[in-house]
Amino acid sequence: MRFHILTFGCQMNVADADWLTQSLVSRGWTEAGESDAQVFVVTTCSVREKPEQKVYSLLGRLKSYADRSPDVFVAVGGCVAQQIGEEFWNRFPFVRLVFGTDGTAMVPQALERLANDPALRISLLDFLDHYPEREQPEGGTVQAQAFVNIMQGCDNFCAYCIVPFTRGRQKSRSSDAVVAECEALVRRGARELTLLGQNVNSYGQDKHGDGTSFASLLERISAIPGLMRLKFTTSHPKDIAPEVVTAFGKLPNLCPQLHLPVQSGSDAVLKAMGRKYTRARYLDTIRELRRVCPQITLTTDIIVGFPGETLQDFEDTLELMREVRYESSFSFKYSDRPGVRAEKMDFKVPEEEKSRRLAVLQEMQDRITVEELAAQVGSMAEVLVEGPSKMQDSEYIFWRGRDGGGRIVNFSSPIPCLTGRMVRVRIVDAKKHSLVGEIRGEPW
Ligand code: 5AD
Ligand code: SF4
Repeated sequence: MRFHILTFGCQMNVADADWLTQSLVSRGWTEAGESDAQVFVVTTCSVREKPEQKVYSLLGRLKSYADRSPDVFVAVGGCVAQQIGEEFWNRFPFVRLVFGTDGTAMVPQALERLANDPALRISLLDFLDHYPEREQPEGGTVQAQAFVNIMQGCDNFCAYCIVPFTRGRQKSRSSDAVVAECEALVRRGARELTLLGQNVNSYGQDKHGDGTSFASLLERISAIPGLMRLKFTTSHPKDIAPEVVTAFGKLPNLCPQLHLPVQSGSDAVLKAMGRKYTRARYLDTIRELRRVCPQITLTTDIIVGFPGETLQDFEDTLELMREVRYESSFSFKYSDRPGVRAEKMDFKVPEEEKSRRLAVLQEMQDRITVEELAAQVGSMAEVLVEGPSKMQDSEYIFWRGRDGGGRIVNFSSPIPCLTGRMVRVRIVDAKKHSLVGEIRGEPW
């Protein structure tokens, strides 16, 4: 069977799609371009805006392939599938599988059954009360960068967020299973691992935890021989333990970078959002992180125009950004999601005002990003090469990678293949969103 995966949304969806690809390939299926595929898998996201519309218009496009051949069918997974569920079948008869996060582990078997029985439809939408382990592909090599799920779901119910409804309650994976997967990936060639979860800092603190804290999990994984880089995402500021902060000064392969979504710089808005930390406590955490690891790069998520956000609240957010000076940030206009607490809150901020605040904030971030990148010029960096760069010239090949802080670095080299290798570069220039380096010495 020939399959094609279309991925939308967060890194967890990307990781799920990677796993699904490996699992289907190990069953003898082949990856194909859109026009050759017999089976489409779409992973969806519903965290913001009108994602259902996006999925519907995509399915409208895929319908033309299904019209051409009765054998073509589509599987829809992820957060939108969890919400809309079997409704998809009524509107799009060629959708024959719907699956939620907890159903992902069973998707390869389900797809095989569907391929063999054209009359069948399968729904994998139930939430399970444990982390559903997935089969782990054994042989072969993997790319230098790999992702490992350590948990699923979230218990925080921030007032704006749909995730606890679409991904269910927090379920930590057993630490032995996580470490075994990490070891296997490093054995198969991974040099950088990113641990994934909706809120990795509360790893182990649910009834599925096995007594291992996130800090001890980091220590165990960091000690795997051959692992050059360890990263994790996403962190909730209220749950970051002092031991995790000190890990940044202690574990040599833990990358000096942290994505710590603040959402707002105003205590009133943080309270209304149900974030359970104050601006002062957040800033204390940042100070402590910088004390133990002065070179740490910090990134964040911000929502502007949360219901009731005043001009002063927004000003507080700008002030916090001036103080922290994030390397980069993801910022969004608040949007109502069905069923979340904020949907019913009063004092919604008008759309134009949300757009205005977003533009002000993004302009400030762009300025800070440019200044922070410019400050790197003249320094040395170790870069893990991700692949050829978009920048090209006739003589040399340009490569793109990231330094330990997560900054994008482009550099040229006559060496024909550097993907997955580490190189030392001297930073010679800074662009708007990236750095330019000159290679020094041999790659490793
Ligand atoms: N409106 C706008 N942004 C949102 N996010 C989550 N829910 C919403 C919403 N309803 C943002 C948060 C979160 C990121 C993944 O998406 O900033 O950290
Ligand atoms: Fe959503 Fe809050 Fe959970 Fe993050 S911590 S997934 S923002 S509910």
